Amino acid sequence: MALVTGANKGIGREIARQLGGLGMTVLVGARDWGRGEDAARELRDEGTDARFVRLDVTDHGSMAAAARSIDEEFGRLDVLVNNAGIPAGGGWATAPLRATEYTADLVRAVYEVNVLGAVAVTHAMLPLLRRSPSARIVNMSSELGSLAALSDPGAVEELDPSLHIAGSRGLLAYNSSKAALNAIPLMYAGELGDEGILVNAVGPGFTVTDLNDHRGELTAEQAATVQVKAATLADDGPTGRFLSRYGEAPW
Ligand SMILES: NC(=O)c1ccc[n+]([C@@H]2O[C@H](COP(=O)([O-])OP(=O)(O)OC[C@H]3O[C@@H](n4cnc5c(N)ncnc54)[C@H](OP(=O)(O)O)[C@@H]3O)[C@@H](O)[C@H]2O)c1
Repeated sequence: MALVTGANKGIGREIARQLGGLGMTVLVGARDWGRGEDAARELRDEGTDARFVRLDVTDHGSMAAAARSIDEEFGRLDVLVNNAGIPAGGGWATAPLRATEYTADLVRAVYEVNVLGAVAVTHAMLPLLRRSPSARIVNMSSELGSLAALSDPGAVEELDPSLHIAGSRGLLAYNSSKAALNAIPLMYAGELGDEGILVNAVGPGFTVTDLNDHRGELTAEQAATVQVKAATLADDGPTGRFLSRYGEAPW
């Protein structure tokens, strides 16, 4: 079974839907009871074995409770998608577009979810992932976290014209949080490879969701396909890579 954090809407919900379509039991992680239950019910109505798991990636108690309930019901976890993420401040529309306008507090709030949330959930779920014969961990990254893209936007925009890196370079909190998130699979992959656990960062492309006030270009359905591929890699698949719709993204 697969756990997707922030799966009540956007790309996360679509990842859950597509994993469910492959026959997996899907645990719909969401911080809000109502939104989580609604999303899980919607997926069940479509025929997926979906269960809501309350999970706020900034709340250690909720992670411990989620790990306990998954342990009791399933005894293991096959896939973890660290999808939950926030742009900055109150959202994309209010996020400062100039790096120099960011305060440390604004950056910290984004790191709590995008970076520390992924580390905390992975740490809490690792004992369960270790009991799977072929566990996969997917960190939902962004090309905006690519140092290569931030230093040479044109080169990466050529690879995927849906990306608009040049205009988003000032998003200090979001971009640097995704750069940090990118580094993490490299460390995990090195340690977990011998146990058959594959860990990758995956960029979905610029997608129409609430996160960017629906300014993206891809549908959530299109964006989720690359995450789902990374979540269902064969045993000899890549690990410690930065994957994207167009293959490997530059770090
Ligand atoms: N859209 C894009 O173009 C794009 C591009 C690259 C990467 N991404 C990444 O894709 C991921 C999903 O984003 P999206 O575009 O689908 O945005 P979205 O529709 O806004 O979804 C974000 C999800 O994260 C959840 N979340 C936020 N804070 C949380 C917390 N503390 N604990 C648990 N869940 C939390 C939200 O829950 P609530 O509903 O409760 O707020 C929501 O379910 C993010 O990591 C984002 O950075 C998106």
